[in-house]
Amino acid sequence: MAKDFDRMEDSNRSANPTIHEVSDPARRIFVRGGLAAAASGLFAPFTLGTLAGCAATGGAGNPAALGRGIGFKSVPMAAIDRVAVPEGYTAQVLYRWGDPVGIAGQMPAFKPDGSNSAAEQALQAGMHHDGMAFFPVEGSSQRGLLVMNHEYVDDGLLHADGMKTWTAEKVRKSMHAHGVSVIEIQREGSAWKQVMPSKFARRITALTPMTITGPAAGHPMLRTAADPSGTRVLGTYNNCANGQTPWGTYLTCEENFADYFEGVDNPDAHQRRWGIRKGNGSKYRWHEHEQRFNVARHPNESNRYGWVVEIDPQDPSSTPVKRSALGRAAHEGAATALTADGRAVVYMGEDSRFEYIYKFVSRDRVKPGGFAANRELLDHGTLYVARFDVDGTGEWLPLVQGQGPLTADKGFANQGDVLIKSRQASDALGATKMDRPEWTTVDPITKEVYCTLTNNSNRGAAGQPFMDAANPRSNNTMGQIIRWKEGGDLDASKFAWNHLVLAGDPKQGRSEAQGSVKGDTFGSPDGLMVDARGVLWIQTDASTSTLGKGDYSSLSNNQMLACDPTKGEIRRFLVGPSGCEVTGLTATPDLKTLFINIQHPGEPANERSDPERPLAVSKWPDGAGRPRSATVVITKNDGGVIGT
Ligand code: FEO
Ligand code: CA
Ligand code: CA
Repeated sequence: MAKDFDRMEDSNRSANPTIHEVSDPARRIFVRGGLAAAASGLFAPFTLGTLAGCAATGGAGNPAALGRGIGFKSVPMAAIDRVAVPEGYTAQVLYRWGDPVGIAGQMPAFKPDGSNSAAEQALQAGMHHDGMAFFPVEGSSQRGLLVMNHEYVDDGLLHADGMKTWTAEKVRKSMHAHGVSVIEIQREGSAWKQVMPSKFARRITALTPMTITGPAAGHPMLRTAADPSGTRVLGTYNNCANGQTPWGTYLTCEENFADYFEGVDNPDAHQRRWGIRKGNGSKYRWHEHEQRFNVARHPNESNRYGWVVEIDPQDPSSTPVKRSALGRAAHEGAATALTADGRAVVYMGEDSRFEYIYKFVSRDRVKPGGFAANRELLDHGTLYVARFDVDGTGEWLPLVQGQGPLTADKGFANQGDVLIKSRQASDALGATKMDRPEWTTVDPITKEVYCTLTNNSNRGAAGQPFMDAANPRSNNTMGQIIRWKEGGDLDASKFAWNHLVLAGDPKQGRSEAQGSVKGDTFGSPDGLMVDARGVLWIQTDASTSTLGKGDYSSLSNNQMLACDPTKGEIRRFLVGPSGCEVTGLTATPDLKTLFINIQHPGEPANERSDPERPLAVSKWPDGAGRPRSATVVITKNDGGVIGT
């Protein structure tokens, strides 16, 4: 979700920490020296020798054997209303808001004037596509399930007359346009088609029943009038980025849930820390017809959101599960990898100004046998939060009740308290306040982990946190990509870190950006994926209100770029339509098909369309009528691996 800088959540008033803060430019130079030292030591795996060794072991048909080289010609930035890809590539629109998900006998056609009913919307693609994963059928790169998030809605496009009138039916349609789609797709020649009907086709919405498991399940703070057990919740929404587990499930992450709750005049400290404020409800107006979003009447309902939700895409009758052991946050994504002995490690960013980066390590090893054999894997383990120190090292601080400051007298009487109040627990531990952590990704070859820190215009402002080593720019409009290498296996408690890049346009004269980007300019990095070859793909989400102005004067549209981290070169691969965010990033195992999502094409600067005054800015992808978020399939015309 692109967020207007002024509205972006910013509720961290904790005093932590001071040890690594950098308060003046002279010290910032010192910090950079520290990073260089870290890079020359612990980051040694970034060498061609490592890659050559990898290539030598790669078998025929293994895309990793091709190495990290980037072969395409850079796409010029331009104010276009289409998806531009490099010469020799094709971009095909696959699944648009309103397209039927493909359930047999239940495939209502999309009505371009926004007049589909709430019941029809529950059988169609939701709005504002975001994180996404491809699940191959038996390892195939020709057929599989595509699972994706529908993060939020623009009610001005969703309903025929926008928000001019407001009814229970409109709230229901909005709730049905949120959530997740499971679709089946297959390749036919050079094109991909949706399989319809499909026995896997499914929509999960803000009204789908789900359970909460793990240490916080049943906690008093999760109990409501409708659910005295504190274990059963209706729905998931504001699903931003995602994860994909080695046992075949999809993780969808609840991000800006606070925007849906109408708060009270005098919020308590917990509500303040989580941004549950009076006036929040005016954005989506659910509380006017769904009482559970009225905090005055249902004070605990908001605690039941902000979780990572596990979905088994192969069983359309399965109940999604909110995994409390992974902690509560304005969750961006959940990048999953394995330790050498087969335990799951999940890296998670919390996208709000001055919030944190988390890591979960499972207690148990992943067993063969798919989800059936691993149903409780994400219910047991240890959650950590990151502290980035000035010397280029860092530490994972355990969020474990009874350890350090996480004791009953400080408000943490049990592990449920720690997980539901993970922000307060992280404050107490002295975690590092970051510049809006978005996606994380683990390099499958080197095991380095990358995280996008999209921007933070409040950094260094009066009364706000100073710059620090990891977040080194005040008024950080452009963002940065940070990376770390664990000091051992992925479950290590210490790590070494540096920046891959401070984003920005060197021509705009921001001294911090000078010389940092080698290659094409970008800002507000968000989507991130290291593919099987070790190429780092970067997607951007600069807000519509900032594109084309100031630091973004050379950037009219959002985009996707490829980076060879061994060379530090960044090259533009795709430019999206006007007013869109480029997001959602997944590939077939052979890396010959890349799937991305175009979110909110034609979005106005205030993020809410007016159907009576449609903007001419975008008619993508149909060329007429209302713009529609959609999945785009990218293939190389010669049938080769994407990016080579
Ligand atoms: Fe939904 Fe942080 O982007
Ligand atoms: Ca974003
Ligand atoms: Ca995002």
